[in-house]
Amino acid sequence: MSVISIINSKGGVGKTSSTLEIASCLGLTGERVLVVDLDGQADCTKVLSKGKRPSNGIYDALIGEEEIGSLAHRSGFENVYYIAADRRLGGFEAAIANRLEREMILSEVIEPVRKMFKYIVFDCPPDMNMLTTNALVASDFYICPCDLSRFSNEAISAIKHHADLIRKRLNPKLKCLGTFLVRVEKMNSFASRLGMEGLKKLVGDDLFDISIPATSKIPEAHLKNSTLTHMFPDNKVAIAYRQITQNIIERS
Ligand SMILES: Nc1ncnc2c1ncn2[C@@H]1O[C@H](COP(=O)(O)OP(=O)(O)OP(=O)(O)O)[C@@H](O)[C@H]1O
Ligand SMILES: [Mg+2]
Repeated sequence: MSVISIINSKGGVGKTSSTLEIASCLGLTGERVLVVDLDGQADCTKVLSKGKRPSNGIYDALIGEEEIGSLAHRSGFENVYYIAADRRLGGFEAAIANRLEREMILSEVIEPVRKMFKYIVFDCPPDMNMLTTNALVASDFYICPCDLSRFSNEAISAIKHHADLIRKRLNPKLKCLGTFLVRVEKMNSFASRLGMEGLKKLVGDDLFDISIPATSKIPEAHLKNSTLTHMFPDNKVAIAYRQITQNIIERS
């Protein structure tokens, strides 16, 4: 089994969309997948719960109030289960301020469900905060969706540094599974060429050959609480996500 963090501290680069598409693709291979929404914005939860958000979520497990197994719900997608996020996650850091080994909380919390799923996927918040650190400590792998902006490259650089520290001190098995570009439009501008050079320098072979093109069908699917994979499986972006997922299966 594999635990995978979908991470980029830069906001709006496609973490949640990628989590939803990759989880859908993994589920369609017949494997059981658990998506844990770690972002207080709860975007992933909104889609996976089809708008009927449960009252409890991962926050209740993190503060020791609920057992993790009772928080996993079946989503409308084949083989995909989820644990909800909500606004209380914004107070996680304050709530655990006096706990020992604060970085290990999520890792301990998910232990009882590790054997129940082939994949556990964390949708991380757009911040290098204690939740993101907990996700990396609990993960076998991390994947970075990104764009070609200077700020995204700087975020990738910071994540690599942070992940290296976590690997040395807290989680020796943590590996980068790859980086891929999301919402790619034109690659021929000066800024995008420079961004691509910078990204390749930063991540080298970790950059997937496949990128995710821009499409209005992704926001359209979200409006219907669905994914491209389920609504428009023949769309070229759905096909690209299937290829990314295949890479993930092979590398994990
Ligand atoms: N391939 C795509 N083409 C067009 N729009 C996209 C694509 N992927 C994602 N989007 C849109 O971009 C926006 C940001 O995507 P998303 O919410 O997945 O990013 P995020 O990194 O999770 O954001 P946050 O940092 O706020 O959590 C959303 O409105 C989403 O619908
Ligand atoms: Mg998100």
